[in-house]
Amino acid sequence: MPRDAPTPPPFEPVALQRSLERYMVWGLVFMLALVAGFVAYRVREPGLRKEALRSQTASYTAVGRTLYRASCAECHGKRAEGGSGPTLNAKEFLKATTDAQMQLLISGGVSGSDMPAWNLDYGGTMTDEQVRQIVTFLRGLEPNAPSVPGWRKGKAPG
Ligand code: HEC
Repeated sequence: MPRDAPTPPPFEPVALQRSLERYMVWGLVFMLALVAGFVAYRVREPGLRKEALRSQTASYTAVGRTLYRASCAECHGKRAEGGSGPTLNAKEFLKATTDAQMQLLISGGVSGSDMPAWNLDYGGTMTDEQVRQIVTFLRGLEPNAPSVPGWRKGKAPG
C-alpha cells in the first residue's frame, strides 16, 4: 500500500506573497503620485515664473529709480525728461535702444562728452547689477513715454 506522498509546502508562503502584492500596490501609488506631482509642477511653473519676473522687475525699478535720482537726474532730469544731457524718457530713445545697448552706454559712458562711465570695469562706481537696475527703471518709463524727436539735445538752452 503506497504511502500518500506528502504535499510539499507551497513554493512561497502566503504571507510572503501578500507582502509582495502590498509592495507592488504601494509602488504603483507612489509612481502615480510622482507623475501627478510632475504634471502639477508643469502647470504651475509658468505662473510662478511670471510672478518672479514681476516682483524682480518691481524691486529693480525701485532701486534703479533711487540710483537714477542720485547719479543721473542732475544731467538727465528728475523724471528723465532731459537736462544738460539727452531726454531719456523719450519714446524715440527707448524704442531705438535695447536694454543691452543701454547697459553698455551707461557702463562705458560717452567719451568726449560729459557722460561719465559708471561701471566699475570702466573706472565708475556701479556694479553690473546696479546699471541693470537703472536700465530696468528707464525701460519702465516706456509705456508712458512722450514723443520727443529732439531727445538728443535734452533741455539744454539753445
Ligand atoms: C554730468 C552729466 C551727466 C551725468 C551725471 C549722466 N549723464 Fe548720461 N549723458 C550726458 C550727456 C551730455 C550725454 C550725451 C553724450 C553724447 O552723446 O554726446 C549723455 C548720454 C547718455 C546716454 C546715451 C544716450 C544716447 O543714446 O545717445 C545714456 C543712456 C545716459 N546718458 C544715461 C545716463 C545714466 C543712466 C546716468 C546715471 C547713472 C547718466 N547718464 C549720468 C550727461 C550725463
